Amino acid sequence: MAALLFLALLSSLSFHLCSCVSASPWQTMTTGSYMRPEDHDRIFLLSPDTTFSCGFHRVGTNAFTFSIWYTAMKTVVWTANPYSAANGYYSPVNLHGSRISLNQDGNLVLADTNGSMVWESKTSSGKHTIVSLLDTGNLVINDSSNKVVWQSFDSPTDTLLPWQKLKKDIRLASGYHHLYFDNDNVLRLLYDGPDITSIYWPSPDYDAQKNGRNRYNSTRVAFLDDKGNFVSSDGFKIVASDSGPGIKRRITIDHDGNFRMYSLDASARKWVVTGQAVIQMCYVHGLCGKNGLCDYSEGLKCRCPPEYVMVDPTDWNKGCKPTFTIGSNQPHDNFTFVKQPHADFYGFDLGSNQSISFEACWDICLNSSSCISFTYKGGDGWCYTKNILYNGQVYPYFPGDNYMKVPKSFNGSASSISKQEGLTCRPSGSEIMLGSANMYGIKKDNIKWIYLYVFGAILGVLELLVIVTGWCLFFRKSNMPKSMEDGYKMITNQFRRFTYRELREATGKFKEEIGRGGAGIVYRGVLEDKKIVAVKKLTNVQQGEEEFWAEVTLIGRINHINLVRMMGFCSEGKNRLLVYEYVENESLDKYLFGERSTESLLDWNQRYKIAVGAARGLAYLHHECLEWIVHCDVKPENILLTRDFGAKIADFGLAKLAKRDSASFNFTHMRGTMGYMAPEWALNTPINAKVDVYSYGVVLLEIVTGARVSSGIMVDGRQVEFPDFIQEAKQILATERITDLVDPRLKGNFDLEQATAIVRIAVACLGGRCERPTMDEILKALMSYDDEDDHPAYSY
Ligand SMILES: *[C@@H]1O[C@H](CO)[C@@H](O)[C@H](O)[C@H]1NC(C)=O
Ligand SMILES: *[C@@H]1O[C@H](CO)[C@@H](O)[C@H](O)[C@H]1NC(C)=O
Ligand SMILES: *[C@@H]1O[C@H](CO)[C@@H](O)[C@H](O)[C@H]1NC(C)=O
Ligand SMILES: *[C@@H]1O[C@H](CO)[C@@H](O)[C@H](O)[C@H]1NC(C)=O
Ligand SMILES: *[C@@H]1O[C@H](CO)[C@@H](O)[C@H](O)[C@H]1NC(C)=O
Ligand SMILES: *[C@@H]1O[C@H](CO)[C@@H](O)[C@H](O)[C@H]1NC(C)=O
Ligand SMILES: *[C@@H]1O[C@H](CO)[C@@H](O)[C@H](O)[C@H]1NC(C)=O
Repeated sequence: MAALLFLALLSSLSFHLCSCVSASPWQTMTTGSYMRPEDHDRIFLLSPDTTFSCGFHRVGTNAFTFSIWYTAMKTVVWTANPYSAANGYYSPVNLHGSRISLNQDGNLVLADTNGSMVWESKTSSGKHTIVSLLDTGNLVINDSSNKVVWQSFDSPTDTLLPWQKLKKDIRLASGYHHLYFDNDNVLRLLYDGPDITSIYWPSPDYDAQKNGRNRYNSTRVAFLDDKGNFVSSDGFKIVASDSGPGIKRRITIDHDGNFRMYSLDASARKWVVTGQAVIQMCYVHGLCGKNGLCDYSEGLKCRCPPEYVMVDPTDWNKGCKPTFTIGSNQPHDNFTFVKQPHADFYGFDLGSNQSISFEACWDICLNSSSCISFTYKGGDGWCYTKNILYNGQVYPYFPGDNYMKVPKSFNGSASSISKQEGLTCRPSGSEIMLGSANMYGIKKDNIKWIYLYVFGAILGVLELLVIVTGWCLFFRKSNMPKSMEDGYKMITNQFRRFTYRELREATGKFKEEIGRGGAGIVYRGVLEDKKIVAVKKLTNVQQGEEEFWAEVTLIGRINHINLVRMMGFCSEGKNRLLVYEYVENESLDKYLFGERSTESLLDWNQRYKIAVGAARGLAYLHHECLEWIVHCDVKPENILLTRDFGAKIADFGLAKLAKRDSASFNFTHMRGTMGYMAPEWALNTPINAKVDVYSYGVVLLEIVTGARVSSGIMVDGRQVEFPDFIQEAKQILATERITDLVDPRLKGNFDLEQATAIVRIAVACLGGRCERPTMDEILKALMSYDDEDDHPAYSY
């Protein structure tokens, strides 16, 4: 209290206009004045009500940052020095010779000892510029007419103060974790690490709506008010547990990747957590690094799997590495698996299989040199194989176990299980790193336990509820075809933006063309990490950059085994490119009627599997993800085949990119390919998902007949146009002479029951708009004839 009075007294003193060193805090900085860290405990800017201070903040014996802090607690809320995500700290300046000065041209510049500029405000408001720290904690630069030309509120670091707005294109960051508004207007937490990028909040298992977010308010603003409400334009809200006016608060994204609301308990002189975004800490991605496991079974801690050790014993973010190698030249039987009960590594699956035995799952992983681990869920027999391990979690409630591949010589004794405990999210030891301790306003060593235990205790019950209801929801969805669930689990979020140069290099200056379509030309490319991709150069995109981003990001989120995955995009100047996963084999048309049909004719089982796969992909688009995704151009050219002839639908979502009118979903231009287009395209009726059903019906007939029926077909030596062909197909169906329709090249090797089902479904698809079945119904019908086994066949 005395200190505050003293500061208040000091602040009422007049200040010097000259640059001489004064022993009192300043209220403003005028051109030509400067501050030095050497004077850090005496020279600083003070807000009129003394709540905030701004000046040099010590982060090491000889290291300082230019920062704003809560005067009473020395809690840093903003820093000018450049931030290094990899190191997790703001590059400091030296004690001697560094200075922050307001130049004659009105630029606020932070210079290091050797004179090199570390940071600048980039303002040039002239001689009568004035810098002041407001009561809100906002550092402002005013020009001669007292207009604000720069403010620290516009470039936050890791903290938002009351009334400071988090806006479009502004991020709060801490280490590799970011809080920002995504292109679809949703406030998200993202782990943007050196190897992977993945969104972890709100839950990537559900779309925005299911997470309670509104994608349609493009205001993109979030702020904390003076009563402790943190409100975001997408509908997200946190109300402080001590809600009400008169309390000093802040929102900070902490080093553990969560963002929390803190209230100052003035009497106890400490910050108390009064709200947070991620309830269950293990959901934060990147927390325990590659191969690391966030273990929640007995308190919260990171650990390495058996036979793995920490890469950097001081930093969990760097993860774990194996103490052995899994080479392809080693015999499989040199390896075995160690069980990690209730563990899983989220996302990045190599493949998944349902309804298989534990032993089969074990064998699949053992026999594959790229498989280093698998997760098996008993009950319904889910098997997930993995070759990269991220976001490892252990939950008492997870209904499955993870198995790590280790050499047989592995001792199996507990001794090799990494003993490191405690969630030390950042390296310790080096003094500079201490800067982060201030984020919490209390001593570094105490913080993790205070918030984890105190808060954990309160939330423990809540979490339990969340976990339990979460799993219930997950399993309850099963009244739709069960097979769709695998799409959910495959979420990987590796979606990213590429530069044009990167893609030009990857494709060798767009050398190898592998396809061409309405939307653009597709080239083969090899990314830096040796991953093969298909790069599509779009022509005719009239969309603005922002809309393009928004839409492409939405498509990028869609992840299903029967849909070609979009891995990223590039939008620079006029160039618009999309980067897709590379699908080994070519498109279905090549195998049905193209050059491939002679050398490797698709057998019946392959055809049936393709029909089911394509139906599953379309059903996912129509029913499972965002309602508006109608493909609009379903045809054999857009059904790509994997190495083992699984179907993957390409080019979805592009109907929206090519033209616009999101509100009403009216198409001004026809889209699609003649022959596959539903009759309503030509009429003036609204277009809905049933256009895809029609096109899919045409594709089914082509799969059965092996001929391009869409452009007419020769039957008994006479040319039959498509509409007549449908009539013909109906008659054949009625008289059960299905064999007449089936591709003669199969020489009678097909399943009559399945062929009949396909033709029946196809004819239904080609009926009037209202009579056509939905993709969901089609998928169910097809799967009921899938006699291979009871579970769907996967294309991985
Ligand atoms: C000043 O020192 C920093 C590192 O301490 C160095 O990166 C920078 O190049 C130096 N600048 C000049 C102008 O010497
Ligand atoms: C700078 O402008 C802001 C906003 O108009 C004002 O609140 C502040 O008092 C000004 N600073 C000075 C030193 O006048
Ligand atoms: C969008 O969000 C802003 C800020 O929360 C709010 O003021 C506005 O009413 C919202 N607009 C709509 C259409 O909901
Ligand atoms: C297989 O394991 C044995 C001992 O467990 C070892 O001697 C042998 O070198 C291993 N083989 C290979 C190819 O690593
Ligand atoms: C799933 O099982 C099938 C047959 O049992 C097998 O061919 C396929 O490789 C398996 N997929 C994965 C991802 O292991
Ligand atoms: C794995 O390999 C063993 C022997 O090499 C073989 O018996 C077994 O069938 C294989 N399993 C699978 C699923 O391929
Ligand atoms: C396995 O571990 C046990 C106990 O830690 C130890 O006594 C034994 O020597 C180890 N065996 C090998 C082969 O490393």
